[in-house]
Amino acid sequence: AHAPILTPSILAGDHANLAASAAIVAQLGLKWIHLDIMDGHFVPNLSFGPQTVAALRKNSKLFFDVHLMLSEPHRYIEAFAKAGANLISVHIEPAYDHVATLARIRELGCQRGIVLNPGTPASAIEHLLDQVELVLVMTVQPGFGGQSFRRDQLEKIARLSALRKERGLNFRLEVDGGIDLATGAECRAAGADTFVAGTSFFNAPDRAAYAATIAAW
Ligand code: DX5
Ligand code: ZN
Repeated sequence: AHAPILTPSILAGDHANLAASAAIVAQLGLKWIHLDIMDGHFVPNLSFGPQTVAALRKNSKLFFDVHLMLSEPHRYIEAFAKAGANLISVHIEPAYDHVATLARIRELGCQRGIVLNPGTPASAIEHLLDQVELVLVMTVQPGFGGQSFRRDQLEKIARLSALRKERGLNFRLEVDGGIDLATGAECRAAGADTFVAGTSFFNAPDRAAYAATIAAW
């Protein structure tokens, strides 16, 4: 099993000073940061784009875990790769050439992630599991931070964890939405190894203790 990784979501950071929010993450010794990109179409909200990612890249060595919530992600892969993304995750739900887009992400030198909304079954991505470094199971309907964890996603996490083992694959299994130390532990038990946390991380009274707890899972 992969060692656990905490990837704080900068969506819950200070949008007037995102560099400071990234610095909080780096100063704790964490390696990853989760960057949520929204287009106001695939999800009913907007966040920020490649220019912001490029600006963050200039003063951060963190691993940029970029989650594209876009109806046409294939149109923006190159821009985010050039902006400094290390991993680019795209949703399965919109209609575009998923296979070609994942291949393009790799050609651009990034790791590949595929994402499932809560209503999408694991079977929708079974044919892509050997073409990704990470599978992201959304544990809320994407679009906003601060929502409640959906326990009905645990079975899907367990299913993907079982498939990974059956097929001898090595992708990371990430969860995103309503993750805190309690819900994250449930996901860990189901087989998840990569934990996105926005609200619960940035609001934690002791962020170092929060990070240490996950590191010990
Ligand atoms: C939701 C985003 C999440 C969000 C999670 O659309 O994909 O990454 O930042 O926020 P919390 O941890 O507050 O649920
Ligand atoms: Zn996300």
